[in-house]
This record gives sequence, structure tokens and C-alpha cells, in this order.
Amino acid sequence: MSVFQATTSAPVNIACIKYWGKRDNTLILPTNSSLSITLSQDHLRSTTTARADPTFTETTLWLNGKVEDIKSGGRLERCLAQLKKMRRERIEAKDPNTPKLSEWNLHVASFNNFPTAAGLASSASGFAALTSSIAALYGLSSFDPSKPSVSSPSELSLVARLGSGSACRSLFGGFVAWEVGSSPTGEDSLAVQVAPQEHWPTMHALICVVNDAKKGTSSTSGMQRTVETSALLQHRIKNVVPARMQAIEKAIKDKDFDSFARITMADSNQFHAVALDTAPPIFYLNDVSRSIIAVVEELNRVSYEKTGHLVAAYTFDAGPNAVVYTESRNVKQIIEIIVRYFPQVESSPFPDPFNLFSGSQPAAAP
Ligand code: DP6
Repeated sequence: MSVFQATTSAPVNIACIKYWGKRDNTLILPTNSSLSITLSQDHLRSTTTARADPTFTETTLWLNGKVEDIKSGGRLERCLAQLKKMRRERIEAKDPNTPKLSEWNLHVASFNNFPTAAGLASSASGFAALTSSIAALYGLSSFDPSKPSVSSPSELSLVARLGSGSACRSLFGGFVAWEVGSSPTGEDSLAVQVAPQEHWPTMHALICVVNDAKKGTSSTSGMQRTVETSALLQHRIKNVVPARMQAIEKAIKDKDFDSFARITMADSNQFHAVALDTAPPIFYLNDVSRSIIAVVEELNRVSYEKTGHLVAAYTFDAGPNAVVYTESRNVKQIIEIIVRYFPQVESSPFPDPFNLFSGSQPAAAP
């Protein structure tokens, strides 16, 4: 008897131009384009195994070993429904002898190798791994270069987006844009690779875990409140992000770290300003986060005076943890300084430093 099962992994991505705001809450269509870097497969990642079997009496999802509720009409159900539709239309309709996996229940088990919901983008890697594992199970994506895929990573990014907006960017490695799109049905709001990881292999991300507890205001509810109440968000969407997207794509193509760093830090700061401009205000940064900003700003000031170049860029998502981007030649100096100013009180849950690009591409072969 055949076993229908696939396992894939997807890494976390960290945005340099932040996604914050939806124009459609069901289809998860954003109010602005965003751009991120997908971390190496070796470090922060979700690994998901999906299995279809005609004897399964219901579809069940385990997250880190615990059964998760599959809400009727919820995000997970929408992702599954879309993948089943693709399987039916692209595979089963074309070959009457192929097993009707789309009619069978699924068992899906997903593990994160890092704390869930600590502002470390667990939903991004989680929904990307879920989408890619079921796509592999359904024969929608081929990992064998000699066999063409029936769906591209950008097409699968449309499915991952239904689970969590930022997840669409984790379908690719390297430098990835999520295009805002203009269609009300969302087919042009997808992820595209701006450059592969090999393009800028000296780029590193240092993850500074300030607090690994679950965050206070979730991204989903926080950004909804921002859309409803912040005037600054409207300015950001119209007047700031479009030019920043162009400028950061150019900086990445030119491997211009100074421009990349200036834009990344400015966008993190504007995202947190927009959170503060929300009513009631949302505070994601804490005193340690602000001290990390001060240390990186001072390091850059001194470096710029001496060499005319910047050495590091901080960015913060919906939590107090910092991600510091820097190039290989500065990694040792930055870690030494961070550890000097912020001595570890207990051992970190992560091996460090994280070498951003030492791993393989996401969505590895089942
Ligand atoms: C601050 O993708 O978690 O990390 O679409 O509601 O699931 P939902 O939100 P989510 O938001 C991520 C917000 C961010 C910025 C970013 O990753 O671009």
C-alpha cells in the first residue's frame, strides 16, 4: 500500500520594509508592499509533515506536539481548501487514475525550533512550511529539477498568504518582496525573489532575544487597530513605502550596505511610530530594545566618522527582540559589543551567532 506523506521546512523571514496593515482581512491583502530576508534553513525554521490517508476520520494539526483547533472558515481552513482545489484542478482532473488525495483527510504535524509567537515570525515559517509540505504531498511542487512543477513558489506564496501575510515571503530564500498588488481578489499580491541568498553571502542576521515570552498585542489585532485609527499609517502607505521599496531593492542589487542599513532602520522606526500612533497605542519595544538602538546608532556614528561607512542595521518586529543585520567582517565586533553591553543572564535558547546564509534553500525535498 502506498503512503502519501511529505516533509518540508521553511525558515523565518525578517522584514526590512514592514508589512503592517490589511486592506482585506479575509484574503490577507496588505496596505503596502514589504521586503524581507529569509534566514538560513539551519537556524529558525518550521518543519512540517503532511500525510493524507483515506482512513483518517478527520483532519488534525499538531503544533509542537499539541493539537490545534482548526476553526471553521478560519485561515488554516482557507489554506487547505485552496491547496485541495489546486490538487483537484491541476492533477486529479487531468488523470482519472491518480488517487483522489483532495478527498482524504490530512494529518499535519509542525515543529518550530524556536519559541512560538515571541515576535520571531513563527506564523511566517509555520504557514510557509505547511503550504510547501501539502503542495509536495499533492504533487503540486516538484523538487526534482528534471520534472516541471505545476505550481511556482510565487503561486504557493498566494496560498501561504491566506494563512499569515508574512508567510508568503518565506516561500523563497534570499531577499524577497511581497508585492501589494491591486486586484480585489488578491492574485497579484504575491512574493517574488529580489535576489537569491548567494547574491550577498556576507550578509548576516544576529538575533538578539530580549524576551522570548508570547507577545502582548498580536500582529493581526495590532495592525487592524492601526488601520482603523492611525493617520500616520496613511502617510506611510502613500508617501513613504513605494519609494523605500525601490531604494532598498537597488541597495540589495548593488550590495550597498550603507543604503540598506539606513532604509532598514528608518522603516523599523516608522513601523514602531505607527504602532504608537494607534489608539490605544501599541508599545512593542522595551528599554532593552531602545538601548540596542542607541548602541547600534553610536557604533554607526563612530564608524561613519572613521571610514565613511555604517556597520550594522537594527530592526524590530511586533516584539522587543532585535535583529541586527551586519556583514561578515563586522560580525565579531558587533557580537562582542552587544554581549559587553547586554550580558547574558541565562543561556540563550539559540546557538549563536546565526549565520544568515549558511544553509540551503527553504522548502527542501520531502
Ligand atoms: C511586524 O504576518 O504575523 O512582522 O498577516 O495577520 O498573520 P498576519 O500578520 P503577520 O504580521 C507580521 C508583521 C511584522 C512585519 C513583517 O513581517 O513584515
